[in-house]
Amino acid sequence: MTVDTAANAQAGTHTRPLIELRGVRVVASGRTLLDGVTLTLKRGEALRLAGPNGGGKTSLLRLLAGELAPAAGERMYHLNGQTQRHAVHARRTLSVVGPDAEAFYLTREWEQTVQDVLLAGFEGDTLRLWEPTPEALARLAEVVALTELEALLERDFRILSHGQRRRVVLARALMPRPEALLLDEFTDGLSEGARYTLGRVLERVYASGVAVILATHRPEEAPKLPWRTVRVDGGRVLHEDASAVLAPETPICLPLPPGSGDLIRLRNVTVYRNGHAALGPLDWTWQAGQHWLVTGENGSGKSTLARLISGELNAALGGTVERPYLQALGKRDLLSTRRRTIGLIGAEVGIRQRRDWTGADILASAWDGTEGFAPTPTPAQAEAVQHLAACLHLQDLLPRTADTLSQGQLRRLLLARAVLHAPKLLILDEGLDFLDTAHRERFLALLPELAAAGTHLMVIAHRESDAPGGMTHHLHLEERLRV
Ligand SMILES: Nc1ncnc2c1ncn2[C@@H]1O[C@H](COP(=O)(O)OP(=O)(O)OP(=O)(O)O)[C@@H](O)[C@H]1O
Ligand SMILES: [Mg+2]
Repeated sequence: MTVDTAANAQAGTHTRPLIELRGVRVVASGRTLLDGVTLTLKRGEALRLAGPNGGGKTSLLRLLAGELAPAAGERMYHLNGQTQRHAVHARRTLSVVGPDAEAFYLTREWEQTVQDVLLAGFEGDTLRLWEPTPEALARLAEVVALTELEALLERDFRILSHGQRRRVVLARALMPRPEALLLDEFTDGLSEGARYTLGRVLERVYASGVAVILATHRPEEAPKLPWRTVRVDGGRVLHEDASAVLAPETPICLPLPPGSGDLIRLRNVTVYRNGHAALGPLDWTWQAGQHWLVTGENGSGKSTLARLISGELNAALGGTVERPYLQALGKRDLLSTRRRTIGLIGAEVGIRQRRDWTGADILASAWDGTEGFAPTPTPAQAEAVQHLAACLHLQDLLPRTADTLSQGQLRRLLLARAVLHAPKLLILDEGLDFLDTAHRERFLALLPELAAAGTHLMVIAHRESDAPGGMTHHLHLEERLRV
């Protein structure tokens, strides 16, 4: 009799949904992030979250993971055969896998091997602080096989390519045997090859009965699962299929920038990062009047090239990097002059911006080449900030501090900062990631005028469709950091 009841109770929870939200409101720093949210996450389903920047997708994922608590309404978990209102079990097994998960490891000063990252994940931790148990090692073997990470186990997380890092944070999330995977902008910024591998891994995970919830602005690049779609907009969840609302983008074409001579000259350049050759050997010249499209698989050295040009990384002995455009402007080749003449947007730029700087500080720091700390701007600079903010619909972000912004909101500010001072070189390293369609279009629409005034563009992209029309040259880098 007792056995029967237990078995029934078990069967009961198995037919129940995983998580139920009823009329939930979430508040943080005095702002309402979500309101009136009613949503049922079914066991083993594939749920896609669509919606504009700042709509509340990430907040919803964090609410499901138990990282945010309801201020009103009800959240009910049916995890691991138990029904719970509190998030204790959810906190142990569910985590949001998104750009911030990688940032944590990239901003540490010390080495973390892939194996350490995964073993820490077994306990729901970020750092491994204990000796692994036999159970942890057994789970490690399963997850490594599932995510195809055998060859990377001893590598330092910080030197992995983008695609490899994503696979590791995904594997880390799988370590505590979660019943749901919560993925935020997960496939954004990945090359086709890396997306393909990740897609294969995710299909396997889904087939094993784990629910997959994915927030993305790029539905066409999501792995092919039978998605149910909900739209998250203005902090509310709208139960509709959002795939029909995507408007086609307006084509933009860049004019040739004026000028003559070489801008950048690289000769016999190799760049090492943490002991691994990340780029080169490369001979390459960027001349005035050229807009470059740079492509290549994850790990081929595209971001390294961007940071080499801007002087954040150096070439190994025997290679030279010259910046004749600075001499032409009558400037010496110093970090400060580079920063004042180059606009660079890439994944690594945003990581350092999560501070209490306001949107206005971030924009105004463009002229000084600092990253958010700005001396009081001149009246002309203050006016330029207002003007650009109006063009890009950024006004309501100016007083906000960066640590309360959504991914897309922060990226929009950084993009604005990169063009505010009309740079000579503008390098967009997957720069339009995290933006919804409307904001992508608004930003692209600024570029023709900048190019006509002398800004030379480099677009680093996996999809040629991310580059505006009018790119004059194409550099394709071969893969270096292979699995
Ligand atoms: N810690 C916080 N404190 C205050 N406000 C916040 C905080 N985190 C997010 N917000 C705000 O809540 C709203 C929803 O943010 P959220 O990150 O959930 O949006 P999102 O849909 O994921 O956007 P994106 O597509 O840009 O990633 C935004 O207006 C954001 O600025
Ligand atoms: Mg988000």
